[in-house]
Amino acid sequence: MSARKIIIDTDPGQDDAVAILLALASPDEIEVLGLTAVAGNVPLALTHKNARIICELAGRADVPVYAGCDAPMSRPLVTAEHVHGKTGLDGPDLPDPVMGLADGHAVDYIIETLRAQDAGTVTLCPLGPLTNIAMAFQKAPDIVAKVQEIVLMGGAYFEVGNITPTAEFNIYVDPEAAEIVFKSGAPITVVPLDVTHKALVTPARNAAFRAIGTPVGIAVGKMTDFFERFDKEKYASPGAPLHDPCVTAYLIQPDLFTGRHINVEIETRSDLTLGMTVADWWGVTDRTPNAMFLGDVDADGFFALLTERLARL
Ligand code: RIB
Ligand code: CA
Repeated sequence: MSARKIIIDTDPGQDDAVAILLALASPDEIEVLGLTAVAGNVPLALTHKNARIICELAGRADVPVYAGCDAPMSRPLVTAEHVHGKTGLDGPDLPDPVMGLADGHAVDYIIETLRAQDAGTVTLCPLGPLTNIAMAFQKAPDIVAKVQEIVLMGGAYFEVGNITPTAEFNIYVDPEAAEIVFKSGAPITVVPLDVTHKALVTPARNAAFRAIGTPVGIAVGKMTDFFERFDKEKYASPGAPLHDPCVTAYLIQPDLFTGRHINVEIETRSDLTLGMTVADWWGVTDRTPNAMFLGDVDADGFFALLTERLARL
């Protein structure tokens, strides 16, 4: 079977970095057409720099990185330095990128790529706020029908919120963008906190990253050590939830995950619950199902896959 063509839309962020590394370590299953950076965990100037740092860490300076939207569609940007540190990639000491940015705006790259490729052959993998994706769908509605699938990290049902009591960060930062994407009609698979909070980097799993002994393995060990502080303190969890790499793992080995095809809508009006993913997990409404909402993961299987693949870089 030929490798799946993907565009990773990202706001690195240590967990985004691991998701990108896993994708680049899996060329038999995944062809990364390009990365599109969006403002999120840290401002855009840092997310597009961090995306290039990670490409070079993987030895893949050939992968084009495009700068995208530097703020949500209609709200001020909210960032998460309290989780990811000032640079967004705190932990390892990685060199500044040599590779430059690709020419053009990320939104135009998404549009042009979907128009150029055969329908149903490009998967979009948003790992941050959905601003770039929504802007592309608004600017070029014709591309929605060409999307093979959107596999995104965002939202929550049983886990509720991580940035507010009711909202997950990626959706909360740009709820209007999320509403556009979830109402677009494109096939969507959601990797929510309900899954990622079960994919925790325990000390043994972190030791396995470091035991790889390569610059990638050691950097991933340092990244996940750094960004676990927030979650360990808040949830008293045994380690960092590896949110974004669950998206990449789903593309490689979907049977690690289970979920339900349900209706998911986005709260965009209430200040109290802004950005909440209102997931009809129990089917109590007659709203039309619009997303495969994942609920569980084989965490040991996920970490075995991740560690084995990182060792290939
Ligand atoms: O809520 C977790 C998500 O927000 C992850 O994608 C993390 O990188 C941040 O973007
Ligand atoms: Ca992210």
